Amino acid sequence: MSTRRVIVVGTGYVGLTTGACLASVGHRVTCADIDPAKIARLRAGQVDILETGLAELVSGGTASGNLDFVLGARPAVVTADGPVALFLCVPTPMGAGGEADLRAVESVVGEIADVLPAGSVLVTKSTVPVGTAARVADMLGRDDIAVVSNPEFLREGSAVSDFLNPDRVVVGSDDRAAAELVGGLYDALNAPVVVTDAASAEMVKYAANCYLATKLSYVNAIAGLCERLGADVEAVIEGMGHDPRIGRSFLRPGPGWGGSCLPKDTRALAQVAEAAGYAFPLLDAAIDTNLAQHAHVVAKVRRLCGGALAGARIGLLGVAFKAGTNDLRDSPALAVAELLAAEGAELTAYDPAVNGELSRLSLVDDPYLAVKGADVVVVLTEWPEFATLDWSLVAELMAGQSIVDTRNLLPLNDLRAEGLACHPIGRAP
Ligand code: UGA
Repeated sequence: MSTRRVIVVGTGYVGLTTGACLASVGHRVTCADIDPAKIARLRAGQVDILETGLAELVSGGTASGNLDFVLGARPAVVTADGPVALFLCVPTPMGAGGEADLRAVESVVGEIADVLPAGSVLVTKSTVPVGTAARVADMLGRDDIAVVSNPEFLREGSAVSDFLNPDRVVVGSDDRAAAELVGGLYDALNAPVVVTDAASAEMVKYAANCYLATKLSYVNAIAGLCERLGADVEAVIEGMGHDPRIGRSFLRPGPGWGGSCLPKDTRALAQVAEAAGYAFPLLDAAIDTNLAQHAHVVAKVRRLCGGALAGARIGLLGVAFKAGTNDLRDSPALAVAELLAAEGAELTAYDPAVNGELSRLSLVDDPYLAVKGADVVVVLTEWPEFATLDWSLVAELMAGQSIVDTRNLLPLNDLRAEGLACHPIGRAP
């Protein structure tokens, strides 16, 4: 195993998970961030991100002396004794034209270019457009530093477990020895290591996320067709999933896919394809199908409200983009809420992980308050606790009887027994 000092710049869920997990397998890791309050909280052992096992790893790493937190990338590099492996885990949000915004990456590279010890390796972990490793190498302007692309495949909420049990580690560089050195940092995890050139490693990330998004749009479209044709999407998925070429995972229909990654990455690849003059209608259709899925959910609710949403009281269960997180970025639940509100619906929402103020809806801290007086209730996030609500109480509190279950989570018979009509996705009510 390489004993090289590791620096992780950016302490979002990817950076903090990377830092804490690498420390837990024996590396000496310094995590840096530009937010002084965040660094102070992390030093005090406070982890704000909802990630199973992360707080324990952070406190374990700090206690063992393998993990510390420093304000700013430059101080982290300056205090390291000798060459480092520096992971860039800063945000790459979607820019105005759908392209990835690389200002955070550029700013960190500018900050450390002249202080990185010779022989260091700069690792891009943020999702960055193909060609970024080469651009970073140009920006650095140093031939004694290698740049390696090492994309992450961490799902929010299960990032620690995904990191410690990877399907694969992908490392790409035009300097093969540097790629192998970075791959070696993961030795303790016993995962297959794919060593390739930088551009291919960068492409793996987009190709994988866009494939996953396309798979979900496909299954959502099949669900819509099942509704029209009287088939049951749950049985269809079961029948498809046994085929190992298709597999069972990532086949759950829903209100559309969201989060901080799939929407951004699909748009970015579509934009890159367009800029390259390359037609990629399959990807465009996956994105359009996702938008249509939000509209499909709204149409279902509108129908149940008698054809118009103006003045209808709708209770929403879940606003996070998926269960297990409090992340609202590109949440399909919020996209649906926006559309409902735009047609004049009055929205009350509950999410076990989200509180505070949200525009267009009133957020309450109890699911029964969200359903109280509702003409229609819509389940938008697959929190397991929604499946075990007291249905007799829900029936008593609601003004209407219809529940739209966009995650196919609720026990249909239990609801029926209480006089509630559950409308799932892709199967008969
Ligand atoms: C996604 C990828 O799954 C990770 O492999 C990748 O590393 C990460 O993006 C990233 O690029 O950083 P994440 O955004 O955390 O991870 O969320 P997912 O669990 O993939 O879910 C994305 C969306 O698809 C959610 O809205 C979720 O509810 C939806 N989804 C997922 C479904 O509707 N059905 C499914 O079967 C699975």
